[in-house]
Parts: sequence; structure tokens; C-alpha cells
Amino acid sequence: MSDLRGARILLGVSGGIAAYKAALLARLLVGAGATVDPVLTRGARHFVGAATFEGITGRHVRDEVWQDIPDETHVALGRAADVAVVYPATANVLAKLAGGHADDLLTTTLLAATCPLVVAPAMHTEMWEHAATRRNAAVLRERGVDVLGPAVGPLMGGDAGAGRLVEPDEAYARIVAHLQATRSRRDDLAGRRVLVTAGGTREPIDPVRFLGNRSSGKMGFAVAAAAAARGAKVDLVAAPSSLATPPGVERHDVTTALEMRDAVLARVDAVDVVVKAAAVADFRPAQAAASKLKKAAGAPRLELVPNPDILAELGARKAGGGLRALLVGFAAETDDVEAYGRDKLARKNADLLVVNDVGAADAGFGVDTNRVVILGRDGSRVEVALAAKTMVADRILDEVAARLRQG
Ligand code: C5P
Repeated sequence: MSDLRGARILLGVSGGIAAYKAALLARLLVGAGATVDPVLTRGARHFVGAATFEGITGRHVRDEVWQDIPDETHVALGRAADVAVVYPATANVLAKLAGGHADDLLTTTLLAATCPLVVAPAMHTEMWEHAATRRNAAVLRERGVDVLGPAVGPLMGGDAGAGRLVEPDEAYARIVAHLQATRSRRDDLAGRRVLVTAGGTREPIDPVRFLGNRSSGKMGFAVAAAAAARGAKVDLVAAPSSLATPPGVERHDVTTALEMRDAVLARVDAVDVVVKAAAVADFRPAQAAASKLKKAAGAPRLELVPNPDILAELGARKAGGGLRALLVGFAAETDDVEAYGRDKLARKNADLLVVNDVGAADAGFGVDTNRVVILGRDGSRVEVALAAKTMVADRILDEVAARLRQG
């Protein structure tokens, strides 16, 4: 049993028959020493009594925004929580959370909470598989919410299928994992310098046209934001991207691969980590026309020349003892993802390589979620299931921080 003393868990319970299992989850959390704040929806109270939760947690059950107005209950509960969990989460609660509604104490509190949020859906299979519910779950995942389950198994009324609430011990384990991750990530990169590249380079053909790629910069910006939040001093070398600069990050805008190389080489000796999330064009037009190419002149013949491979160059310097930084590369592939990843890791002499399958619709370019495998030069392999890029960024930095600690 973990030691959860000092941890504060917001336990949201919504109205499904499985709400009785929330009492067991509360018991597990309280037994490990956590302080649990139960918030029941009106629906939940049809299934399980507030007295049960008051008895188990030793705390008042809050169920109305209109109680204790001067205390600003929703803001206070939201701010105090280290992890929030909605167990069970009905289709209605998922919809309200996805839409940002705040029409009862639970949804209002969750809007005020900035801690990790776990939701455990429970409903009949038809409701879970409804396009609206699927979309709501996807929206929540993109936003970084941990959607746990549902499991497949017996449902109410003798039915069976997907929609069963995960068991209390599974929800408990997930809450513990979030608490531990939050604790171990707090300032674990303090005093470190991290250089991140992001976005897709543009290689000019003429003053208005360029060769580009579909990278949005989201993954690299998420790594930069997460590293800064964990205490690092972060330089972000950004190829064109419409994203806002994350707080605490110093941004250096570049356009082409050559400019990116210069910006990286100018800073690399001072940093502890380089995360090369940018999609760098492998080739550029040999010459960019000084004035706009005219259509009437016919199809231009583009002669391409190779761009320098910045990561490989850093890897070669590192092999020669001329660079101390930990090197993290990315590989976007559409087939044989891991085999290419291992090959690239060795060829570029990186320490870590993050491979993602850009052929999938819900991962890779442009979207807010990603599914990756993090390969280590030491043979390690960490699989990160579909999650928000912000969460993937933290998992990558967990690997980085562990290696920095080893020195
Ligand atoms: O070879 P490939 O482009 O797939 O390798 C991807 C990794 O190498 C990424 O980390 C990318 O930022 C980096 N790279 C680079 N310079 C290039 C091409 C790729 O640094 N010219």
C-alpha cells in the first residue's frame, strides 16, 4: 500500500449504478492516508448516500454550489486537489466536461482545478459507442484528461459489453501513479538547460513559395512547456508555427534548416539536453529565385540539394567527445516504425529516440494527441499509449531526467 499522507484527492461521483464502487475507492484512498473530498452529483445521490462518504472520508460531502458561498467551495476544492477523479463518470458528465459546462458543484469545481484529472466512464455499451460520447472522450484526452477504461464485462440489466466501470483498485493505482509522477516531476529539471527544436522548416523556392511539411510544432512546444514547468531554462528554436510561446520559454524563430542549424550550434555547448522535435527538410532548392517565378514561364525545374542533418552532426560531435548534451531525436514513420527508429538511433548517435506513427489519424502531425515509443541507446523501450502531447512530453522528460540523474 502506498503512503498517500499529505495528498488531497477530489473524488467526483456521478449518477450511475456503479456509484457504490466509489465508496470502495474512497476507502482505499483514505486507508493509504489521503484526504478525500467527495463531491456528489444530484444523480449520484439517487444511488448512494452522502452519509456513506462522510463516514468513510470523515469529511462533509459537498453537493451544491449554493452552500457556503463565502468559502467559494468550488475554487477552494479545485485548488486544493492534487489529483481529481470522476468515478464513475456518466455520459452526461463526460459531455459536460468536454463542453466546459459548470452547472453543478462537480463540473464547476473541475473547471477550477488545475491538477491531473482521471475520469472513469461507466454506461451501457450503446451510450459509450455513440458518436457523441466517443467525440467527448477524444476531446478530453486531447486536453490531457486521463480517460480510464471503460472495461468490458457484465453491465446492469443482464447486459454485457464495453462500458463497465474499472474496478476500484485499478482507479486507485492510476491515482497513485499521477501523484507519484507529479511529485517526482516537481522541479526535477531545476538548474538544467534544455534546447528544443520544433515545427517544420520552410525551404524557399522563390519569395512566395517554399517546400514545407505538415509539422505543426505541437509536440516540440509541449516539450518546451513541460521542461520549463519542471524548472529547466528552456531555449526553443522554432520553425514557423502558429503556436504561442509557452510561459518561461525563450523562443528563437527560424525559417530554414540552415538557420535552424546555426541557431542550434550557437547554443548547444551551454545546454544539458537537446530535444530535436522539429521536422527538418532533408532537401532544399539549390537556389531560391530572387523574384516570383511566373506561371507563363512554364513548370520550373527544381534542383534540390541535401540539408545538413543537424541531429546527426550533434551525434558525431558527441561521439568525438566534443559535446556533453543528452540528445533526443524524433522519428516520424508510416511503416516499420520501431525498426527504423532503432536504426536512426544508432545512425545519429542519439541517446533517446521518440518514434511515432504519423500514418495514424489520432497521432503525429497536427493533432493534439500522440502515441509513441521512446527507445533508449541503452536498449530501453517505453511505450506511451494514446495521450495528449502535453502528457507525452512529460513521459519523454521522465526518461531525460532519469538519465541526467545518472550523470
Ligand atoms: O532522418 P529523419 O529526418 O527522420 O530524423 C529525424 C530526427 O532528426 C529528428 O529529431 C529531426 O529533428 C532530426 N533532423 C535534423 N536535421 C535534419 C533532418 C532531421 O536534425 N536535416
